[in-house]
Amino acid sequence: MSALKLKTVQTVLSTVAALEGQTIEVGGWLLSARHSKKVSFLVLSDGSSTQSLQVVVPDEVRQQFPEILKTTTGASIRCRGQIVLSQGQGQTHELRALDFEWVGLVDDPLTYPLPPKDLSLEHIRGVPHLRARLPHQAAIARLRSVVSQTIHEYFTAQGFHWVATPILSSSDAEGAGARFRVTTTAPGETCADGDFFAKPTFLTVSGQLEGEALCSALSRVYTFGPTFRAEQSHTSRHLAEFWMVEPELAFASLKDLVDLSDGLIRHTIATVLTKLPEEMALFEKSGGRSVAHWETLSQTPLKTLSYTQAIEMLRSHFKDVHWGMDLHAEHEKWLVAQLQQPVALTHYPAKIKSFYMKDALDHTVEAMDVLVPDMGELIGGSVREHDYEKLTQKMKKLGMPLSEYSQYLDLRRYGSVPHGGFGMGFERLIGYLSSAASVKDVIAYPKVAGG
Ligand code: 4AD
Ligand code: MG
Repeated sequence: MSALKLKTVQTVLSTVAALEGQTIEVGGWLLSARHSKKVSFLVLSDGSSTQSLQVVVPDEVRQQFPEILKTTTGASIRCRGQIVLSQGQGQTHELRALDFEWVGLVDDPLTYPLPPKDLSLEHIRGVPHLRARLPHQAAIARLRSVVSQTIHEYFTAQGFHWVATPILSSSDAEGAGARFRVTTTAPGETCADGDFFAKPTFLTVSGQLEGEALCSALSRVYTFGPTFRAEQSHTSRHLAEFWMVEPELAFASLKDLVDLSDGLIRHTIATVLTKLPEEMALFEKSGGRSVAHWETLSQTPLKTLSYTQAIEMLRSHFKDVHWGMDLHAEHEKWLVAQLQQPVALTHYPAKIKSFYMKDALDHTVEAMDVLVPDMGELIGGSVREHDYEKLTQKMKKLGMPLSEYSQYLDLRRYGSVPHGGFGMGFERLIGYLSSAASVKDVIAYPKVAGG
């Protein structure tokens, strides 16, 4: 029988009254198994819902499928049964098993890494290949799926086109050194035929520069893909491999970028509240932000402060803060903790920001960072310098090799337009929405320095 004919636990539980008396087929993994003399109780999850389905196996069925008695937490089953009213507490209905098409036992139940008890975060992180079987981890995986679709829907509705910028890239979008080199030549080896790539090639740190090129033709584009940074940052918000969403908008002002970020964040919050109410309630139950808080935030416009205003606020609390410095994580956290909502900081000092940002008054640039509670910086973006002379002057001052940016500079020579965009870290957004302790808990296989 087709796997597509299986009913998901989510479908069963959301239509359970209508299914009463019907025979259906389900499949998944057991969160627990209890075997008494006359009956077995199997708690089934298939990753589709925060809730599980109780499968009751009467002894006569067990006698036909004796391996049921050996099922434990983690075992898999595919089972046909009838939806009936439940005699027990905790659920209105249950599945009374009629027969089994598959039973996959756990070979050594005593060493199964996810026993039904409280497990530490460290332990859970140690079993990335199994952890999505835990209801909380599965809820985060579904959140990722829904939020990524929501991002595509949001930008599409605003007239943006999704573009794929390269993962293998020779350009350095952030002008910093934290890149992974991609080469076919082993360290210490010289390759007679030369390296596979004729020029140094890296995993992308941002699709921005290529995004700007596509924006100069399609007007509104966004990239959404894997991004890599060789940062030695052992924090709860840094990964070596993460996903980034990068819109780029022709004729954009800084206000447009703030408005676009505001719309994106609030639309995402509103959508997850509608599409994943049980998941959001589960995050709240696990000590995270409340559903009521998210409801309020979805109605609250993004707060905007200038960097200079932020420095003034910070000086009331921190001694070592001065205008011109880069904000530390503790500063960002304190600011958002005061405001209890996402905040866009604008007009940073030019000297702490990237070369491509457009100059504004008083040694600042038309840049914006959106900070959120716990995760700190969620979004970083700016209006781009679109004037050829100004940009080349700035790059020369920074000692940047203009020849390596010839295509980027061409965009300023052939019909240049004012434009801007930003990058939003997808794992930071998911971490924020799920109140996760770390971005390591919201990507299936986290990669970090040394790990
Ligand atoms: O502020 P960043 O470095 O900006 C850029 O890369 C721009 N080129 C984007 C643009 O304008 N198109 O990175 C953008 C966002 C950050 O705000 C953060 O959320 C996320 O990407 N980010 C990381 N997320 C996880 N792990 C890391 N190591 C990250 N580095 C940046
Ligand atoms: Mg940044």
